[in-house]
Amino acid sequence: MANVTIIGTQWGDEGKGKVVDLYAEKANVIVRFQGGNNAGHTLVVKGEKTILHLIPSGILHNNKLCILGNGMVIDPQVLIMEIERLRLRGVLPADTRLLVSDRAHVIMPYHRSIDLARESQLSHKIGTTGRGIGPCYEDKINRQGIRICDLMDEEVFRQKLMSNLEEKNFYLTKRFQMEPLLGENILAEYLTYADYIRPFVADTAYILAEEINKGRKILFEGAQGAHLDIDHGTYPYVTSSNTAAGSAATGSGLGPGSMNNVVGICKAYTTRVGEGPFPTELCNDIGKYLQEAGREFGSTTGRKRRCGWLDLCLVNQAIRTSGISGLCLTKLDVLTGLEKINICVGYRLETGEIIDHVPASIKVLSQCEPLYETLDGWSEELSGARSLDELPKNTRKYIERIEILTGVEAVLVSIGPSREETIVLKNPFVA
Ligand code: GDP
Ligand code: IMO
Ligand code: MG
Repeated sequence: MANVTIIGTQWGDEGKGKVVDLYAEKANVIVRFQGGNNAGHTLVVKGEKTILHLIPSGILHNNKLCILGNGMVIDPQVLIMEIERLRLRGVLPADTRLLVSDRAHVIMPYHRSIDLARESQLSHKIGTTGRGIGPCYEDKINRQGIRICDLMDEEVFRQKLMSNLEEKNFYLTKRFQMEPLLGENILAEYLTYADYIRPFVADTAYILAEEINKGRKILFEGAQGAHLDIDHGTYPYVTSSNTAAGSAATGSGLGPGSMNNVVGICKAYTTRVGEGPFPTELCNDIGKYLQEAGREFGSTTGRKRRCGWLDLCLVNQAIRTSGISGLCLTKLDVLTGLEKINICVGYRLETGEIIDHVPASIKVLSQCEPLYETLDGWSEELSGARSLDELPKNTRKYIERIEILTGVEAVLVSIGPSREETIVLKNPFVA
């Protein structure tokens, strides 16, 4: 039996939330393993939209175990708001078990302040979501972080908070001329969060291993995308965690052998939020068309997403770095109406050399000229199709071309935001 890991193959927002919601029906456990509320995963069920930032996208199904794994960074206020919103809407099934790893790191107010101060005052902006993600991971790696288990213990939490705050306030006041943060206020605020979260806290790696031993099916939900990965992405224009599939093991506390089926989510074109090189970006009417037709606004910050042609140099690198064996092609409906469609199959460097991979240096990547293969477009609406045969011939050709150029089969085709606007070609839980 296979477990399934869902990974974004581009710069995030590929439609991971929709696919996880769909696959969750067949899974018993859904696990987020990295990132935090920089993610925004959108689910559209019976016309109702739900955007999840922290809670796994399986939450709308009955009888599931949803886990926020140890690799995540968790802003407790955001988590509580997310739970409360779902409860208020009556869409949190009573039999859902939601667990938070005792080893996940806690996003503190000083993480948000530092993130925002750097973005507003430093010359090299990353265009972060401003949620304190980078500064929280910095503290984790620096061994200064506060974990959920620390938050559960008032004495330990107070001591860690006060000791960290001394340094953080020095940085905020001297480097950014900001007002210092008040320890007692933070303490009081976070202790109320601690009380709320306590019933959800567990050694989730232990529980996951038990679930696997019982033969339960696990769905690992990646956040961000392969090119926002701290090692393999367009550094420094990346997020602060490993987004590649290997992270599902360390970020959930299982061995790599448990990740035996990696599915890559690939939007039919490319988008990016925030700064950084983007070789196939379209700063013209077609880019505007994709942005409008695809409603490409960030689900977390509401920023306009930059749009461009599908770039298979990016996707193929994601396939290599995550061991992807199946592709979910999303948002094909957005391409309807375009006369010609380009697929980037290589880059020409300034030196004239032609390459088919993503160079490490963002200076070199920024100078790359994308090389395109051009296909004919289609004008028919796609959303009603429920099988490949019902898609226009040129849409099928586009899909086939992607399969050939990546060497990976399409396992799902998405033609609209709703659950039902999907053509499932293969059961993901069969290896
Ligand atoms: P994620 O971060 O990868 O989960 O993606 P987001 O939810 O941030 O962004 C994807 C957006 O596209 C959401 O608004 C989805 O509802 C929407 N979406 C997903 N699949 C499709 C599709 O096949 N067609 C269209 N038109 N929209 C889609
Ligand atoms: P999902 O899971 C798209 C981008 C930010 C910024 C960079 C660093 O919805 O696909 P951070 O706040 O993480 O330090 O920002 O990463 N970014 C995302 N872009 N989708 C996401 O998540 C993202 N999470 C972070 O825009 O460029
Ligand atoms: Mg998103």
